[in-house]
Amino acid sequence: MGSLAVELQGVGKRYLLGEDHGGHRTLAETVTAATTRLWRRQPRAPQEELWSLRHIDLELAEGGALGIIGRNGAGKSTLLKVLTRITEPTEGISRTRGRVGALLEVGTGFHPELTGRENVYLNGAIHGMGRRDIERRFDDIVAFSGVERFLDTPIKRYSSGMHLRLAFAVAAHLEPDILVVDEILAVGDAEFQRKCLGRMELAESEGRTVIFVSHSLDTVARLCPRVVWLDAGRVVEEGPANQVIDAYLTAGMRRVEQRSFERPDDVPVWLTACRTVDPRDQGSALSILRRDEPLAIEIEILVREPVPGLNLALSVTNLRGTRVLDEAWSEHATYRDLDIGRFAARLEVPPVLVAGEYAVGVWVGSSYQTVVWEPEAAVFRLEGDVDNRPDRLVQLELPWQLTRVEGPPGA
Ligand SMILES: Nc1ncnc2c1ncn2[C@@H]1O[C@H](COP(=O)(O)OP(=O)(O)O)[C@@H](O)[C@H]1O
Ligand SMILES: [Mg+2]
Repeated sequence: MGSLAVELQGVGKRYLLGEDHGGHRTLAETVTAATTRLWRRQPRAPQEELWSLRHIDLELAEGGALGIIGRNGAGKSTLLKVLTRITEPTEGISRTRGRVGALLEVGTGFHPELTGRENVYLNGAIHGMGRRDIERRFDDIVAFSGVERFLDTPIKRYSSGMHLRLAFAVAAHLEPDILVVDEILAVGDAEFQRKCLGRMELAESEGRTVIFVSHSLDTVARLCPRVVWLDAGRVVEEGPANQVIDAYLTAGMRRVEQRSFERPDDVPVWLTACRTVDPRDQGSALSILRRDEPLAIEIEILVREPVPGLNLALSVTNLRGTRVLDEAWSEHATYRDLDIGRFAARLEVPPVLVAGEYAVGVWVGSSYQTVVWEPEAAVFRLEGDVDNRPDRLVQLELPWQLTRVEGPPGA
């Protein structure tokens, strides 16, 4: 009880740009660069450094589940590679306790010339398992992966989806003490993703330690009580999942607060404005509104060419990416076709949404085409009591009725 599965102290990882990075430079480019240097008799330019990770301190207790979030290039994958010893930290100390099962980028851990079956055994051996141990789990691994028919085919002939399925099955079934998973949800079909999540939940419930990188914040929140937010190789915030995810998303939203919309020349309809307003306040745009008052969403569009069956839709999406409202104009009784000209549309929303941050999405199109789709045409925050029911989407304060029932139960 209470011992640490993972401990990082002052971990940093530095890459030299231009180092072998998986072949971003062609041979011709390398040769050209070298001869140019020679010809100009210039000293070789000092190599540029890049710290993918810096000053990372992290502790994770055995049996905990930790989510790692952050933008692309934040250092998430590098952190997992340091943890799994695929790469050495440039500075600091990384310690893990027990057997680590990892599903990192496709390609790590499998030998392309060997068959699926051989790779399962090879991986088991790498994980320190005897042949018996692997045999005992072999059928489960194969059944989970769904690649039975290709077991005796070399891995190099697998599609990336098949490869991923088998790699996940191996990582999850070899009973690692620490299960490390990078971005599986980006690949694979929905059904397989559900299976993977189920498997990670199972690992967690069995008291294993799980470390999970994903862009799917809902999934991270569901699986991981604690989350670390990385940016530019540093920990920005670490703590309870909901708190860190909200901070991460709010930071992202601030960036788009003042929107101006592009006006491509060749589209028949433009969105020219989108704002949230207090309907009693004669329409000045507000990005912070009260939770317990109605709010109105206003948009303006410019129709340059008539589009048959033109329709408008407004959606409101919360920080978790759930579309809480989605209202189409065609659902309204007074639907009509729009001629050329400017139009303003307004939608009044009763005070049903919970306090929090939201994005307004604007869609304009017909049954045949999407002409405008701005998923974050405006953002707004509803202020008010932050209730302690973080899972609910609407707050209706419905009337309760409670009466005393006389007599014995069930009578
Ligand atoms: N082998 C490498 N050589 C040089 N730079 C690298 C290498 N691996 C990652 N990087 C750089 O380190 C930074 C963090 O990358 P990564 O850990 O893959 O981020 P994330 O997984 O959060 O998208 C990026 O700027 C990336 O280009
Ligand atoms: Mg990554």
